[in-house]
Amino acid sequence: MKPANRLAFIKEYYFSKKLQEIKEMQQQGVDVINLGIGSPDLPPPYDAVAQMQLAAKQEKAHQYQSYRGLDELREAFADFYQRKFQVEVNLHTEILPLMGSKEGVMQISMAFLNEGDEVLIPNPGYPTYTSVTKLVGAKPVFYELKEEQGWQPNFSDLEKQDLSKVKIMWLNYPHMPTGAKAGQHLFHDAIAFAKKHDILLVNDNPYSFILNDNPESLLAYPGSKDVGVELTSVSKTFNMAGWRVGAVLGNQENLQHILKVKSNMDSGMFLPIQLGASVALKENEDWFKNLDFLYKNRRIKITELAEKLGCQLEKRDLVGMFVWAKIPNRYKTSEEFSEHILHKHHLFAAPGTVFGSAGEGYIRFSLCVDEATIEKAIKRVES
Ligand SMILES: Cc1ncc(COP(=O)(O)O)c(C=O)c1O
Repeated sequence: MKPANRLAFIKEYYFSKKLQEIKEMQQQGVDVINLGIGSPDLPPPYDAVAQMQLAAKQEKAHQYQSYRGLDELREAFADFYQRKFQVEVNLHTEILPLMGSKEGVMQISMAFLNEGDEVLIPNPGYPTYTSVTKLVGAKPVFYELKEEQGWQPNFSDLEKQDLSKVKIMWLNYPHMPTGAKAGQHLFHDAIAFAKKHDILLVNDNPYSFILNDNPESLLAYPGSKDVGVELTSVSKTFNMAGWRVGAVLGNQENLQHILKVKSNMDSGMFLPIQLGASVALKENEDWFKNLDFLYKNRRIKITELAEKLGCQLEKRDLVGMFVWAKIPNRYKTSEEFSEHILHKHHLFAAPGTVFGSAGEGYIRFSLCVDEATIEKAIKRVES
């Protein structure tokens, strides 16, 4: 059967293909160490799992659930935003739980974009923003992030472009893959820019609680709810990527539009998952300190590995679960370097170009691997 025309504009997700290749290498007996993927290997909070298991025994656990999520889950997200970001949201109207933030990218795009609308997308950035934009028939317009500008958007450059067709601007701070934080003025400037040009700002914020002393939300800034929404997720914060729980927060009107799409696409989230996630969102400071402790040690080791491979790192603390490094000069492309370490050392790390053309010259290592495995990787490079 001939697929729909829209598929001509996108490719299978890079990692979906590459992981298959790695699996085949592993099946042939090659011990590939996968440093490519940001899927937390650490366990979720014990109480969250216990609650999920207990809830699975409830009589009504297996029925369809509300499209808006359980009150308990919305309340837990609202409390979390209050505690961690000092952001007040109305738990009845300003939070919509989602099955991960990735589905939010599609639902927001379907809710707000018409064919031919333009979308400002960071380069480098999360590839889903681009593919979803294309899938809904809108046009990606990339804004380049540069190391020398701290990987921050340059609004004065953007002002020089024709913005009349731009409907959405994707922001993603803390930024993946570079680990950059929103600088002092970023959200403030972004809100003014969005207001002036009638653009919906969407900050995709799944990494605020990994190796970050000062978590920030777009919604903490005055005027943000008038022009923006934010995506959050428990995937990285609580090691629950497979649970598929996130949320979009914003004003009632915008969330209604998103709910219109969502309620036609799924039939609610499994109740035990919602109750388990509600428990995770209540974790106290010890959870975050322990997580940081583990990731800090891993980051030290990954940095050592990257340097042993001849990569160069910026002198700044990276937020999130990746180390973003410059490849050695002798390699022409990121992909060439990534293939080289895969075949020579059996180490996989993601070439920067997976995240866009501005990722050329960089490679991304994941911290979702235990210290012993990173040490093994270091030994392989040394030998
Ligand atoms: C920038 C960014 N946004 C969203 C996601 C998806 O997260 P979730 O598990 O909440 O769908 C990822 C996952 O890798 C990501 O890197």
